[in-house]
Amino acid sequence: MKIALVGGTGDIGTGFAVRFMQNHEIIVGSRSADKAQESANAILELIGPKGNVWGTDNGSAVAAADAVVLCVPYEHLNSATSDLSASYNSQLVVSPVVPMSYNGKFFQFNPPTEGSAAMRAKSLLPEGMRIVSAFHTICAAALQARDRVLKADVLICGDDAGAVDSVVGLIGDIKSLRPLKAGPLEASALVESLTPMLLNVARKNKIKEAGITIVSER
Ligand SMILES: NC(=O)c1ccc[n+]([C@@H]2O[C@H](COP(=O)([O-])OP(=O)(O)OC[C@H]3O[C@@H](n4cnc5c(N)ncnc54)[C@H](OP(=O)(O)O)[C@@H]3O)[C@@H](O)[C@H]2O)c1
Repeated sequence: MKIALVGGTGDIGTGFAVRFMQNHEIIVGSRSADKAQESANAILELIGPKGNVWGTDNGSAVAAADAVVLCVPYEHLNSATSDLSASYNSQLVVSPVVPMSYNGKFFQFNPPTEGSAAMRAKSLLPEGMRIVSAFHTICAAALQARDRVLKADVLICGDDAGAVDSVVGLIGDIKSLRPLKAGPLEASALVESLTPMLLNVARKNKIKEAGITIVSER
């Protein structure tokens, strides 16, 4: 697939580029085309020239892609969706976005009136776009460490079975991550709210890169 990373110059965008570039063409997006290309060059320097990564402005990245990952902080969701509406057509859109803040004591979940970042993205994108929410509980630093085996589950929410299966495939590209379906897009709030909880647990217990695994009877 051609995968556009909107705001892909940041932490999680770099992590996705590093992991997905083995099997896909990665288009790093940014508000600045120059910054995007610099970021793509830095990734190629880190990983080696074999990867297929290039950079451009967010709108051009979306227009050229089969799939788009929204890699911006929740506060800038409009910039990644409605502001680029002319560039969207039939791409699969993946949202790892978590609306949260730190109140001085702990991280808290701040869902919008739509219930979640994913449902808000749906309301901002052109009608009929296939949106899947995933990756909220995967840490950017762990993704960027390309050789690290990530023993974690990725919880996925979406309404379109084909789109969910595409994201299951993407997750399968990352060593030992396990994709788990967690319900329709409307259930995304439940998954998104796990991220501030994980950050609180990590802080209080000095755990690095806390993630989620679902235990079951073997
Ligand atoms: N970091 C993690 O470990 C992690 C884990 C799971 C989920 N997430 C989610 O992934 C998303 C991205 O997180 P991140 O940590 O990668 O964020 P980040 O590094 O803070 O920012 C990502 C990018 O957002 C763009 N941006 C900043 N201000 C903007 C604005 N005003 N308008 C448009 N774009 C703007 C910047 O790209 P340009 O300056 O190049 O435009 C920046 O590189 C968040 O929604 C977060 O909840 C993060």
